[in-house]
Amino acid sequence: MKYFILFGPPGAGKGTQATAMVEKYNLHHISTGALLRKEIAAGTELGLQAKALIEDGHLVPDEVVEGMIESEFQSVKGVDGFLLDGFPRTLPQAEALDAILAKTSEEVTATVSIMIPDEMIMERIKGRALKEGRADDASEEIINNRIATYHNQTEPLIEYYTKAGRYNEIDGVGTIEEVQGRIFTIMDRF
Ligand code: AP5
Ligand code: MG
Repeated sequence: MKYFILFGPPGAGKGTQATAMVEKYNLHHISTGALLRKEIAAGTELGLQAKALIEDGHLVPDEVVEGMIESEFQSVKGVDGFLLDGFPRTLPQAEALDAILAKTSEEVTATVSIMIPDEMIMERIKGRALKEGRADDASEEIINNRIATYHNQTEPLIEYYTKAGRYNEIDGVGTIEEVQGRIFTIMDRF
């Protein structure tokens, strides 16, 4: 199995690009953000715990998302691999992912990182807020918290995967098709 990490700040285009990637490479898309939003919509206990954190622009506890990832790996069959969107997001999550994969003698195949500047994050998320109405897109304050959370807790993963020889970065500025072309060029190598 191949395990691709789709990395990047909020609003970089991870969800947008994931659709074509999973189709072209026969992968199963796992977005921890989308899974958490589903739990919130269903009003589960987990959803209730996650709601306030997400709507303030903070991360949910590592164990919560680690459990979600492992159960998706175990339950999904018939694909050539997984596309992890929004996971891992902290160093402990990256270490937990390595440990989960080590149980079956597997490892992360590659990280594909979509990079855009902070000003563009704000612009794109505000645009999406008009269409999708996500609660964590609702104010500049929340978006700024998410940007700060990314820089403080998630950005250190760039060094982690660079050291592991698994980091590939592309420029996320450009049309959706241009960005997709850059991503496919990297994915074709694996
Ligand atoms: P999550 O859902 O993962 O949100 P995120 O990482 O903040 O990323 P987004 O979904 O906002 O952006 P995206 O990169 O998918 O961009 P999109 O394609 O939509 O997480 C939400 C929350 O859940 C977290 O804040 C946290 O609380 C919690 N959570 C999730 N995972 C967790 C974890 N592992 N640990 C702990 N907590 C976790 O694009 C954005 C907009 O731009 C769209 O409108 C799109 O149409 C547009 N767009 C995209 N590409 C282009 C382009 N090239 N040109 C012009 N517009 C574009
Ligand atoms: Mg997304």
